[in-house]
Amino acid sequence: MKRLRRLRQNEAIRNLVKETRLSPQDFIYPIFVTEGKNIKSSIKSMPNIFQYSIDRLSEILDEVKSSKISGIMIFGIPNPQDKDELATQAYSENGITQKAIRFIKKHYPEIICIADVCLCEYTKNGHCGLVKNGEILNDETLPLLCKTATSLAQAGADIIAPSDMMDGRIEAIRTALDNSGFKNTPIMAYSAKFASAYYGPFRDAAQSAPCFGDRKSYQMDFSNPKEALREIETDIEEGADIVMIKPALIYLDILKEACQKFNHPIAVYNVSGEYSMVKAAAINGWIDERKIVTENLTAMKRAGANIIITYHALDMAKWLNE
Ligand code: PBG
Ligand code: ZN
Repeated sequence: MKRLRRLRQNEAIRNLVKETRLSPQDFIYPIFVTEGKNIKSSIKSMPNIFQYSIDRLSEILDEVKSSKISGIMIFGIPNPQDKDELATQAYSENGITQKAIRFIKKHYPEIICIADVCLCEYTKNGHCGLVKNGEILNDETLPLLCKTATSLAQAGADIIAPSDMMDGRIEAIRTALDNSGFKNTPIMAYSAKFASAYYGPFRDAAQSAPCFGDRKSYQMDFSNPKEALREIETDIEEGADIVMIKPALIYLDILKEACQKFNHPIAVYNVSGEYSMVKAAAINGWIDERKIVTENLTAMKRAGANIIITYHALDMAKWLNE
């Protein structure tokens, strides 16, 4: 008889033969930063996630620092009256994200600060690109993404993460960064970003829901695994240093294939809807949150993720550090 149970007989042996181990360093924690003062505002659809004004950002950054996770991803929320057709606040020197990054890098230089690059938080219509007659324009959007990326690098962002899904943006942004003195700033491309209903809670948190239509003309159709590999391949050819698959949990098939095919570091984004479903069930006492989160995050790493962006980051790090 083949006795596979020999290696399962007690916890010490199970730990010895464990093939996948989570570490706090695997994680990136997304943070929402809002204009205003003295704000720590809860997000209805995302339990235990808050929008912070810069003067209260230290409350969460201190936790990030002691958790030993690798870094954070910053999403800025401008004043609603400052949103316009051209997403001006996305690339303004005094935009909310630029101010937040300057604050973070001044007071917490050791935390890797990843800047999401997109226009949807800053456009009046909530789309990720410029809009004309109901069409989301591609080539006209690229210069604005380049301006946004260089302005965030200028503010001190350690990694630039374009999430807009316009064609040609990685090449355009790479060139813009190189030409502005940021040759060494890596790009983490949201490469296989699917048009997903799992982003719903995020759009509450970032106040970035599109006010007409949907994002299906730029984000990917979730039926298309081959196209996802083409997206990743294209971003690598255009100069991406790290590629991302998003959402995470229900796209582990894409992750696994991408790992086998490419030799670049791969990040996954365990998105807001994936987080909130776990939280909702946990709050109701229907599942054991710690065990479910550990199982979910281990699955991402087992499938090949090198970097896991997750709202569970601080909880998971705390459990791992215990
Ligand atoms: C901006 C952006 C989104 C997310 C990350 N960057 C929203 C979207 O594309 O609609 C989603 C993250 C999440 O759901 O946690 N383009
Ligand atoms: Zn966007």
